[in-house]
Amino acid sequence: MKHTDIKNILSSADMVGTNAVICGWVRTFRDSAQVSFLELSDGSSFQKLQVVIDKNKLKVDPECTKLGASLAVKGTVVKAFKGEGNEFNAEEIALLGTCPPDYPIQKKRTTLEFLRGIPHLRLRTNTFQAVFRVRSVAAQAIHRFFHERGFYYINAPLITASDCEGAGEMFRVTTQPWNVGYQTEDEYFKNDFFGVKAGLSVSGQLEGEVAATALGKIYTFGPSFRAENSNTTRHLAEFWHIEPEVAFAELPDVIELAEEMLKYLIRAVLEECPDELKFFDSFVEKGLIEKLTHVASSDFAVCAYTEAIRLLEKENARFRFPVSWGCDLQSEHEKYLTEEVYRRPVFVTDYPKEIKSFYMKQNPDGKTVAATDLLVPGIGEIIGGSEREADLGKLKTAMEARRMDMAAYKQYLDLRTFGSVPHGGFGLGFERFVMYVTGMENIRDVTLFPRSVKNIM
Ligand code: 4AD
Ligand code: MG
Repeated sequence: MKHTDIKNILSSADMVGTNAVICGWVRTFRDSAQVSFLELSDGSSFQKLQVVIDKNKLKVDPECTKLGASLAVKGTVVKAFKGEGNEFNAEEIALLGTCPPDYPIQKKRTTLEFLRGIPHLRLRTNTFQAVFRVRSVAAQAIHRFFHERGFYYINAPLITASDCEGAGEMFRVTTQPWNVGYQTEDEYFKNDFFGVKAGLSVSGQLEGEVAATALGKIYTFGPSFRAENSNTTRHLAEFWHIEPEVAFAELPDVIELAEEMLKYLIRAVLEECPDELKFFDSFVEKGLIEKLTHVASSDFAVCAYTEAIRLLEKENARFRFPVSWGCDLQSEHEKYLTEEVYRRPVFVTDYPKEIKSFYMKQNPDGKTVAATDLLVPGIGEIIGGSEREADLGKLKTAMEARRMDMAAYKQYLDLRTFGSVPHGGFGLGFERFVMYVTGMENIRDVTLFPRSVKNIM
């Protein structure tokens, strides 16, 4: 169907006086003696287009005025009677699809929880349209950021036989029937599709390292899967993951890249989604624009884990889980550090090796690894990364301590045998980033069809 996006009609001075066809869904209808007004949305912009109907010239089918009905309208672009921009004088209205009164998206504001029950229709609301426009702009900006800096875009496999994070949170991939009668697990996997135990990848990092130790600078941007039983507002079973990996890089380089990337993405959203951000600032998180503008132009903090524990220990009385050196940080601790101590994003570095993954570079102190988590106010951990252990012997020791199956990681170990180099990278959870820039508080509200424990609508 030849038609013009509402976004272009609204803002183009050149279009005033020209004829056009627009398509969209009815958002509001107002009637008066001589004229009636329809507001249409086609998803191309936050603002709706006002369609003016001269009742003396055009008789409108009442079905065309129903909330949610879909229309194609032929007419003329005119300067808006009130305010800036353009509106549209209708000459012919074609009904594309009727919308009966039990349409679940009514004009009065409903709860996000109610909308979670109708994921196929919630994108017809202002909130979700704004979220998904921001998400798209951010995704484009990610590719731009890395492309401009000479990173290659790599697609890591989604089906894998190795568990990168080693936390046993892999979804299994199998074609075996549920009632096979094998005596052992070994027998089960030997007869399975791949002949070994396979699952959905929790991270593209291990393959990213393969590419980075040949191409130099790479990134992946794809889905990761975690079968963790965490029914929180920050966890999904399927999330999108951005994972750059850089050869000849040490932990400070990784931190610098992460900060530069995050600021670049925030600036892109500020520049390209002003209407959406104004909306979120008014209705979702007061002060959001100021927060983002400030973050984009000021330095992030850096704090070693040992120092973080010292700061947290002073406040142990207020925590549900009191801390001591060696413990993993819970979200209450992460929030305290970033929201109350630093009041800005903070990189926590050099965690105890026992609470982090096998592949992280071991520090000379023998106790910590060159890892970093970036914590941001309102969310907590948004990025996890590290320098990788490049020494074959040390890597093997860490894997043995975790009783890992060395044979399954032969290729990964080969990278340390043949021309090993210092290298590192990080993973940004894309949905957590979208939460951060929109102020949305539940990760299920920034994903088209969220997958989480007992939820696959
Ligand atoms: O900290 P994580 O587990 O680190 C890794 O996977 C590394 N292999 C990354 C790397 O160094 N290349 O995950 C990285 C980020 C987290 O900081 C978080 O933002 C996000 O991925 N994330 C999740 N997002 C939504 N739901 C989940 N269940 C997530 N698990 C991790
Ligand atoms: Mg992590």
